[in-house]
Amino acid sequence: MTDSNDKKPTDGESSSLKKSKKKQKKEDAWRPEGPRDPFALLDTLPEKKQQEIQRALHLFSLAPTTPKTLQQAKKHTYRFWNTQPVPKLDDTITTHGPIAEGEVSVREEPYSLPQGFSWDTLDLSSPPVLKELCSLLNENYTEDDDNTIRLDFSLEYLEWALQPPNWLAQWHCGVRVDTNQKLVGFIAAVPADVRIYETEKRAVQVKLLCVHKKLRLKRMTPVLIRELTRRVNQQGLYQALYTAGTVLPTPISSCRVWHRPLNPRKLMEVNYPGLRQKTTLQRALKLNRLPEATKVQGLRPMTKEDAPGIQSLLQKNLCKFQLSPLLSLQEVEHWLLPRENVVDTYVVEDDDGALTDVVSFYSVSSRVLNHLVHSGLRAAHLLYVASATTEMTDLMEDALVLAKAKGFDIFCALDVMDNEGFLEKLKFSIGDRMVHYYLYNWMCPNMSPDKVGLVLPS
Ligand SMILES: CC(C)(COP(=O)(O)OP(=O)(O)OC[C@H]1O[C@@H](n2cnc3c(N)ncnc32)[C@H](O)[C@@H]1OP(=O)(O)O)[C@@H](O)C(=O)NCCC(=O)NCCS
Repeated sequence: MTDSNDKKPTDGESSSLKKSKKKQKKEDAWRPEGPRDPFALLDTLPEKKQQEIQRALHLFSLAPTTPKTLQQAKKHTYRFWNTQPVPKLDDTITTHGPIAEGEVSVREEPYSLPQGFSWDTLDLSSPPVLKELCSLLNENYTEDDDNTIRLDFSLEYLEWALQPPNWLAQWHCGVRVDTNQKLVGFIAAVPADVRIYETEKRAVQVKLLCVHKKLRLKRMTPVLIRELTRRVNQQGLYQALYTAGTVLPTPISSCRVWHRPLNPRKLMEVNYPGLRQKTTLQRALKLNRLPEATKVQGLRPMTKEDAPGIQSLLQKNLCKFQLSPLLSLQEVEHWLLPRENVVDTYVVEDDDGALTDVVSFYSVSSRVLNHLVHSGLRAAHLLYVASATTEMTDLMEDALVLAKAKGFDIFCALDVMDNEGFLEKLKFSIGDRMVHYYLYNWMCPNMSPDKVGLVLPS
């Protein structure tokens, strides 16, 4: 049946119709078949409307998400992860070793992408490319479920996170749309040698996996992971470490994020996720009051000359855990040497000039969306704390004082390492977010958080 207004297209119209159909087909390569994708529809709406709808979806639990709990995970079919060398969720593991044994033959050619998309190895030494990555992450990484706070990566943070010693450009793996070169997907690996129980392994840390909102739920993630794995295997490495807030097969440890308000007034005003328990402002201010000045004698910011002392302090401290990093001197310098708005490290030097303690935290900034007063939020995340002489609680209290003086609004720490010893004493409260630790192609018994000696910044 045709409408009376229908008329045959002219030759010019017909060729442009064909072109636009072809373009549409290309753009649809990652769209699921069938009725129009509701997420595409959502994306056509103004940002504020999108947020309202997302909030409502979460409220009614209709939004399709990857499992957040083990219970949900047990009901989920892992179409991709079930094909990977990772333990199954029900496995009880008592042995140690690789899952895919022997010489893995590494595929020569990149994994194929749907028509209209291409791989691009990102050259992060080029400022425009670094900016593009920053925009992809900042527009598409959300921190909380109701989409009111969004991570805000800085160029300096990305340089720190993605270019540690021996980084490789081919491990900065992007996906672009052919027609306009827009960056729509990213995944990275950086060298991260580890000790897992008694085994020392050359490995990588996988980080900053991100798929553009418009291409979500279209199975781009498995392709990104496969391609990155291929590129890592090409360098003769077969193990990877990664963390996620979602439950995948299978966490070797599941840790909790704890929060310590530094600026309770602002956190209450922005309704900071995980701190929404009912309390009055007066009470929160009183509870979270901190001393004006630090009290540990000999505490000062780290300098380059401190790297060897810190390396040996960390080595001594980290060997008691079942999972810990093997940090070269250059890596200690890279990960810990203070960088404005990226990482802060303080050491304690005794009267003889020896380093006895170290505490380090990195900076995670967020944008607060649609708030009349506040536009940004700064969180300090604990990276390492190791103390040989100072009481750890005293050292951490000083870290809180310093973080507050530097304008951080909140201090976050995981219940890993010996952190349980100070969390409650220093008024940290348990958040609702979990960080699950994973190993790719390695099986070993799982471990309690206090046996994890490693924090992996995203
Ligand atoms: C995480 C993200 C890339 C997943 O994309 P998506 O469009 O929902 O998922 P896709 O359709 O591409 O792929 C689904 C597969 O990826 C897996 N997956 C989802 N999130 C994952 C994660 N963080 N790490 C590893 N695999 C993940 C799913 O389990 C699923 O595999 P399965 O069939 O075995 O269960 C996307 O939601 C995103 O960019 N989020 C914002 C950034 C972010 O949170 N990154 C992760 C930090 S750990």
